[in-house]
Amino acid sequence: MKFGHFDDANREYVITNPRTPWPWINYLGCEEFFSLVSNTAGGYSFYKDAKFRRISRYRYNGVPMDAGGMYFYIKDGATIWNPGWKPCKTELDFYECRHGMGYTRITGAKDGVSASLLMFVPLRTNAQILKLTLRNDSKRAKRLKLFSFVEWCLWNASTDMENFQRNFSTGEVEIDGSTIYHKTEYKERRNHYAFYGVNAKIDGFDTDRETFLGLYNGFDDPDAVRAGKCANSVAHGWSPIAAHQLDVALRPGESKELVFTLGYVELPEAEKWQRKGVVNKKPAKAILKRFDTSAKVDRAFAQLKSYWDDLLSRYSVKSGNERLDRMVNVWNQYQCMVTFNMSRSASFFESGIGRGMGFRDSNQDLVGFVHQIPDRARERILDIAATQFPDGGCYHQYQPLTKRGNNDIGGGFNDDPMWLIFGTVAYLKETGDFSILEEKVPFDNKKGSEVTLFEHLKVSFDHVLNNLGPHKLPLIGRADWNDCLNLNCFSHDPNESFQTTENKTKGSKAESLMIAGLFCVCGKDYAELCAHLGRKAESTRAAKAVAAMEKAVERHGWDGEWYLRAYDFFGRKVGSKENDEGKIFIESQGWCAMAGIGKAKGMPEKALDATKKHLECAHGIVLNQPAFTKYVVEYGEISTYPAGYKENAGIFCHNNPWIIIAEAIAGRGEDAFAHWAKIAPSYTEDRSELHKVEPNVYCQMVAGRDAAKPGEGKNSWLTGTAAWNWYAVSEYILGIKPDYDALVVDPCLPKSLGRYTVTRRFRGATYEITVVNKSGRGKLAKPVRLPLINGTRKFVVEI
Ligand code: BGC
Ligand code: NOJ
Repeated sequence: MKFGHFDDANREYVITNPRTPWPWINYLGCEEFFSLVSNTAGGYSFYKDAKFRRISRYRYNGVPMDAGGMYFYIKDGATIWNPGWKPCKTELDFYECRHGMGYTRITGAKDGVSASLLMFVPLRTNAQILKLTLRNDSKRAKRLKLFSFVEWCLWNASTDMENFQRNFSTGEVEIDGSTIYHKTEYKERRNHYAFYGVNAKIDGFDTDRETFLGLYNGFDDPDAVRAGKCANSVAHGWSPIAAHQLDVALRPGESKELVFTLGYVELPEAEKWQRKGVVNKKPAKAILKRFDTSAKVDRAFAQLKSYWDDLLSRYSVKSGNERLDRMVNVWNQYQCMVTFNMSRSASFFESGIGRGMGFRDSNQDLVGFVHQIPDRARERILDIAATQFPDGGCYHQYQPLTKRGNNDIGGGFNDDPMWLIFGTVAYLKETGDFSILEEKVPFDNKKGSEVTLFEHLKVSFDHVLNNLGPHKLPLIGRADWNDCLNLNCFSHDPNESFQTTENKTKGSKAESLMIAGLFCVCGKDYAELCAHLGRKAESTRAAKAVAAMEKAVERHGWDGEWYLRAYDFFGRKVGSKENDEGKIFIESQGWCAMAGIGKAKGMPEKALDATKKHLECAHGIVLNQPAFTKYVVEYGEISTYPAGYKENAGIFCHNNPWIIIAEAIAGRGEDAFAHWAKIAPSYTEDRSELHKVEPNVYCQMVAGRDAAKPGEGKNSWLTGTAAWNWYAVSEYILGIKPDYDALVVDPCLPKSLGRYTVTRRFRGATYEITVVNKSGRGKLAKPVRLPLINGTRKFVVEI
């Protein structure tokens, strides 16, 4: 069952039934001010950092689900309704939510009145616009009471939910005309406030939650709305809110537009106050003025549209397969940009307080957006590299606001360093900007420790070589890509974090075949880069180290039909036919096959066949088989999950593309495409009810075949899945790959893709590449290298 449909021409997903199986959200904002908004107008806003600068309050995992948001209540006689159906859930005559590129438009209609709410964050603006259009389609004059509502968060989203003995006494607001200002803690150390205004005279307001809602009411039954009147309450402590009341008269056929602006302001110490106790409202007023007419709002909206037109025009395809085209042209690229903005911090599964930016996550995300925003990718790489340690190890996470490594989590994830090479090489191939390698970057953000970015790549490479185990394979440390394969943790304490605890390290023999494969793939890239830079000796050294690693894998990492996953603390095999559970894992099949390890002996193909045979199911490729059914102390968190979920035999959509790419490298186009179609949103949309999460973007995990409900998705939006699928489809299936001094065409196609045209902007030029799969073989004998060009040129490549 579906709950809506794709509107390809408008690049929107259109939800026509508000009772989606889970709130289906969108992201507003692409610079510093962000909002998450669900299809029923639930959600919240923040500035830069979802933990430290939360603007509006949201309760995760509440009852009912998704309560709190950017609500409008309309009272029409005795009937009270919301354009987005919730929170009152009054049955609507019409409902539609259009999630688009950086905007959401929710339209509801009831008893002849329609209300259409357009929400977006204008470019270069620290505010969200909520433009509400009310129209009377009935034959009678209407006198409506309209109420807006947001609840302020006391800035730190974490303490906001805990420290009530303080919080209930700190809240402060100001009301000025039609604008409500939230200034809690402004008089002390904060230099920022928020505001919510509207471009019309208001007939009342409330800023105290208890007054507006009534202590024992939910959002679905506010006292003020039922009474048709706000009480002009001024919050002192407790829970400050912003609610406007506007009495709107509409003649038959008449419509009215109102522009609400929810904004954020930061001021230097000397300019904080207008006078004692009164905040300096000048910057807020300037923002309000920029959007005080519909025409101004429409212009800003048009600018946002052309911003997205530009971003999405850098790679587009016409293939005749609409499911492929809509992923490539719209949703996959869009999701990549959202993961760039958020990393893993704020979604409806990530509370915005738990995690900062991941080192490996942020590097992987780069391949998804470097073609869209190369300058910001450059900055991101330098930020990430600055959190590295001199020995090449890395902080596993850093905070976006401070850009400092996160001490609580620390380091020791031994795959992390290699991802810096992965991300940087992607940047270099896209842009040809080698100057980045000369940038001076500190270690651990310490002044005086600066070395060039190239040196950072070198220490990354060496970190693996300096941490080899008994089989000359990489030691795993706390974990590799699979955060839950904790081979040195040995935890018996339920209050201990699997990620940050190592109860055993001395004498550990725990080695990772995933890191081995990653090292070979990125190590070859590093060797090639060195050769390109004329650093011959370093290139030879790197190539030799990679060759040695390949040998070690062939000798100690092959289990007969597939690659082993690891050796545990004691040096016993993990992911072998000798194991009872967890005989085979996806990660090492993907990485060692992508690296082509043991190619002469047919290892990559055998591993891919084994993957298909043992790990594939109706909804994708599961992570391991058989699933763990009991807690294995020497494996850690992986065995804590019930079978079929998350890292224990769930379908981790993030690593399916590793197999897709390996299949493409092996020239098996049918398999590559079939694997992709199993997890691609445009295909899973058909089973939206089962899939549960948004039908337009990838989710991190789909329940595997051992689960109670195979095919049920979780953890949508913020996942490396977006970047990896983009990389797999754009560079390996459609086969358009940037290289240092060429654009390479090297597709791997199923029979169903006979012909397509990719328009690719690359180094300032536009390539229009038509690929014709004439022979049906789907793969070129030799990749075609297109030279760097100026202007626009058409190319035809025949297979
Ligand atoms: C999750 C992983 C995640 C890790 C660190 C685990 O519980 O299953 O996917 O990476 O926690 O947050
Ligand atoms: C989610 C984390 O963000 C990512 O870094 C990790 O690789 C996967 N989980 C797999 O454990």
